[in-house]
Amino acid sequence: MATVQMSVSPEDLSQVPRGNERIPEAGILVIFGASGDLTRRKLLPALFHLEQAGLLPERFAIVGVARRPLGEEFAATMRTSIVEFGSVEAGDSRLDGFVERISYFPLKFDNPADYTDLKAELERIAQKKSIGGRRMFYLATAPEFFAGIIENLGAQGMAQPGQGRVAVVIEKPFGHDLASARALNYQVNAVFDESQVFRIDHYLGKETVQNILVFRFANGIFEPIWNRNYIDHVQITMAETLGVEGRGPFYEKAGALRDVVQNHMMELLSLVALEPPSSFEAESVRREKLKVWRAIPSIPILNAVRGQYGPGLVNGERVVGYRDEARVNPESGTETYAAVKLQIENWRWAGVPFYLRAGKRLRKRATEINIQFKQPPLLIFDRLATSSPCQQIQPNLLTLRIQPDEGIALRFGAKVPTTPEMAVCPVNMDFDYEEAFGKSSANGYERLLLDAMLGDQTLFAHRDGVETTWALYTPILKAWAAKPPEVFPNYLAGSWGPECSDHLLERAQHEWRNNLGRKA
Ligand code: BG6
Repeated sequence: MATVQMSVSPEDLSQVPRGNERIPEAGILVIFGASGDLTRRKLLPALFHLEQAGLLPERFAIVGVARRPLGEEFAATMRTSIVEFGSVEAGDSRLDGFVERISYFPLKFDNPADYTDLKAELERIAQKKSIGGRRMFYLATAPEFFAGIIENLGAQGMAQPGQGRVAVVIEKPFGHDLASARALNYQVNAVFDESQVFRIDHYLGKETVQNILVFRFANGIFEPIWNRNYIDHVQITMAETLGVEGRGPFYEKAGALRDVVQNHMMELLSLVALEPPSSFEAESVRREKLKVWRAIPSIPILNAVRGQYGPGLVNGERVVGYRDEARVNPESGTETYAAVKLQIENWRWAGVPFYLRAGKRLRKRATEINIQFKQPPLLIFDRLATSSPCQQIQPNLLTLRIQPDEGIALRFGAKVPTTPEMAVCPVNMDFDYEEAFGKSSANGYERLLLDAMLGDQTLFAHRDGVETTWALYTPILKAWAAKPPEVFPNYLAGSWGPECSDHLLERAQHEWRNNLGRKA
């Protein structure tokens, strides 16, 4: 398909304000679960990037907390990780100053006495570095420890804002169904006020996800057609080529629906579907998202399909099936693929199907939102174009590429030159983030960490939202648990998922768009 590229002018770019006016106050960030992957791969590189951008306060300490008896070696490991996962060379002297901010404190999550010691340690650091009372507790542990940690922080009086704001950041998964999410919300809110709670969904930290709102509400031309009168259906795909990457035990209990559909994909859906918020502030944005989720009627079980990958070829490499992954039950019924069809019953969207699919070990890595518009009321060129290279006039398609190849494309029909007939061919108008703005080293956590430190909850999940999305998916999870799948594995690694997923769309004469990405 021919492509027209679009770019940003250097003059426009030079006028973009750089936001270093948003620097949080001095404080201590305490990361529970600091010996885990998330800290190494995402959090510390993001904090380093923030420091390099001048967005960390001068008086700021990072305390890693975990069960293992790590000492000085913790800071050294973090240094190596920042080089591996961040954008800096090993010998760079900027790392020295950053690493000095880091210390480690061993703690058993369920031992109250350890929290007394932690409290004393934080006071010692605060005094030594003149940091004051501001604290942010980041829960990056396995979810079974969340409630205990929160309770202990509460019991030690560490949740109370004293001489500074205290916040808690909670990683996903936030519960594993409606009942457990409710219970966790109850435990969290028994200790922390909701205004102190930051439930992370790292998708909301992605630039392209935030850009959905900018695209819709900072431009005048799309919103008038952003509704059931012009849009035929919406597809949201989160395709991964990765398997479970050593996280077998976690994934066995999660599955695709819990792992990414209930959270990341529902966030994407809400941003596509919400009404214009009155401002870009937590309260307004969260209220509009909640309205979208609440307008979704319960999803009939027929409109939810699941799959599990068998062995196959991914990017030319032979990979094992899910049941042969390390620490996975050889007869596992866990889904590595899930797709649903849902409706949003409100004035704007009634009758427009939204299709969501997510899977591991698929053909290509791509997270994309495809908005397919209705055909024009009369296809006056269709008849004339039968002998053309493009047999059918294709409907307009707006593609929001969340990752990779971050950008936006609009497909429309153009006359094929030099043909005597009015032959119409689809072409793409394409905006590419990297071409326009250069490559970004941000991993999404920079923005979220910064916002949490600043106390801005706009890009974080609220308790009502979490419970509403769990309420939608819990019946499906229950039905699936009650009836184990008969034909798992049902798709090959490296394919586009199980056949039943295609049937889900065929019923409405739709089909999944599989040539995803820019270089499709
Ligand atoms: C996480 C899931 O939340 O998101 C993982 O637990 C998944 O299973 C990951 O791989 C995908 O994130 P990203 O940013 O790579 O799309």
